[in-house]
Amino acid sequence: MPNKKTKNWDIQKSEDLYLINSWGSPYFSISESGEVVVSLEKSEEHPVTKGVSLMTIAKGLKERGFDLPALLRFEDLLESRIRLLNETFLKAMEKVDYKGTYRGVFPIKVNQQHQVIEDISEFGKKYHHGFEAGSKAELIIAMTYVSSSESLVICNGYKDSEFIDLALLSRSIGINTVLVIEMPQELDVIIERSKALGISPVLGLRVRLSAKAGGHWNSSGGDNSMFGLNSDEIMKVVDKLKGENMLDTLQLLHYHLGSQIPNIRDIRSGVIEASRYYCELKKEGANMLFLDIGGGLAVDYDGTHTNYGSSCNYGLNEYCADVVEGIMEVCDRAEIEHPTIISESGRATVSYYSVLLFNILDVERFNTKSDNDMLGDTTNEILENLFYTKNNLTTKNIQESFNDALYYRDTLKFVFNHGEITLREKALGERLFWSIMHKIEEFCEELEYVPDEIADFSANISDIYYGNFSVFQSLPDIWAIDQLFPVMPIHRLDEKPDRKGIIADMTCDCDGRINRFIGLEDVKNALELHQLRDNEEYVIGVFLVGAYQETLGDLHNLMGDTNVVSVKLTANGEYYLTKEVEGDTVADILEVVEYNTKSMVERMRKKAEEAVGSGTITAKQRKSFLELYQIGLRGYTYYENN
Ligand SMILES: Cc1ncc(COP(=O)(O)O)c(C=O)c1O
Repeated sequence: MPNKKTKNWDIQKSEDLYLINSWGSPYFSISESGEVVVSLEKSEEHPVTKGVSLMTIAKGLKERGFDLPALLRFEDLLESRIRLLNETFLKAMEKVDYKGTYRGVFPIKVNQQHQVIEDISEFGKKYHHGFEAGSKAELIIAMTYVSSSESLVICNGYKDSEFIDLALLSRSIGINTVLVIEMPQELDVIIERSKALGISPVLGLRVRLSAKAGGHWNSSGGDNSMFGLNSDEIMKVVDKLKGENMLDTLQLLHYHLGSQIPNIRDIRSGVIEASRYYCELKKEGANMLFLDIGGGLAVDYDGTHTNYGSSCNYGLNEYCADVVEGIMEVCDRAEIEHPTIISESGRATVSYYSVLLFNILDVERFNTKSDNDMLGDTTNEILENLFYTKNNLTTKNIQESFNDALYYRDTLKFVFNHGEITLREKALGERLFWSIMHKIEEFCEELEYVPDEIADFSANISDIYYGNFSVFQSLPDIWAIDQLFPVMPIHRLDEKPDRKGIIADMTCDCDGRINRFIGLEDVKNALELHQLRDNEEYVIGVFLVGAYQETLGDLHNLMGDTNVVSVKLTANGEYYLTKEVEGDTVADILEVVEYNTKSMVERMRKKAEEAVGSGTITAKQRKSFLELYQIGLRGYTYYENN
């Protein structure tokens, strides 16, 4: 095989460029041969682990008949995250002689897919990892998949009497279900239903803390947050329970400041305030046992380890230590026994688990060079000026040439609109303009200081790489909330990526694109990418997409679910597929939007027969046409390479 390595480039440069060691360690790295590999976390059992190339997996999928785009789920990474979360909390407790324990619950809303829940149930069993449910449907999942009688099922969200009955009845079959009161009115229904069913509940209260967290989801916290009870409402609940002789059923205090909390100081403030409520409830006579700190444990999506919204200025060790020590300090001061700490960490549990892979279908080069363009017979002054600017550009007159080029381009537009130049002349002018900009960009690499205006312009000069995927289906948070995910090519990383591009999806919607990328100093408007090669697939990976993306996705342009495969890794660099879910076919998606595909085929048959009748097509052509129509219905909703 020819050596395609580029001079002055090596994999370390790619590591630095895409920051893979910052957001991906210990799971994702770049191999000597320039491919992204996924590895098992090193452990006593596997002190040395060999990674598996994602490109090898992508090729293996193709051989098995699965096209890209595909979502890869790495079971081992999920197992590793559940183990780390539980063991880091337990270690932090051991270190300071904390007397309580830790029970994690996975918030089902973060990824409700059956395989994910099954995996969490299996891997979480030995840690008694439970589930958090925010609706009846999620409660039904939680009851069915909770794997240990010591695991908890925490019921948040607004509850009608059917929800409450289900939760109460689940207790009678040995499931450790806790009903968290989110609204004062819920209590009356709970009391009434528990009396009617003769089942004593275990109750929690969601408190509305004054503490507020930074980040995108901060409206979940603070005095004006939409959720939870304030002090006055809490006291009313306590008094009501006292009056009913049921205060012993109140055992849990819960709060949730928001998801992806970037700053550890906000985590600490929340813990301290909630611990004070906990102690006061205990003093009021409630049988307090659990302090549930909600979600919020952030993922360092951009690898910068800062308090920027897509990062966090703490790691898991610091998070667990601060939570444990904060609760312990407040409880010790009040001489209250240490509670069992519950966290509802969703994002931090499942983000690493999934990687979206898609192939690039085509590229639109933004700046076509026009080295060979001559003026020919043209006598247009603007074109002559552009030509002159291009030929006389040096590092010394860069700013002046930049200003001139912009001015001539605007004038060119004006004269074209007034019918003074032809379309052919306009096209030549645009080529000359982009040639100047291209040269300016090259010269900028030699400059120590690049004027801001030029730097901004050049950041926006990018190719468009058309990817075989839908942002709306697979990465909805990019569209909805400008979420940043690590995005990078998964191969050719020993070659210099000498183009810059944004990535457009297949929906042809101007929002269907990725044009913000992680960067060391700032968010980048374009990603460094390689030029496509003939007859060779170029594959991009979007990482850390296991949380929130799958169910929030929609069917924009009727692009359906992608193929999904669960991959099991071995320590010596092999892999095998454990579960496979074929992506939606066109017929699947049409049925979701209530078409009856059988009657659609019927309609098409009639139309084709009419065409035969009127002599537009032959009977044989009718046959091939209808076959193609039916193949289309059975096909993948994405671009198929066959
Ligand atoms: C009540 C509750 N708990 C837990 C979570 C999960 O949060 P995270 O994914 O940040 O861990 C959420 C999500 O916002 C939530 O609303």
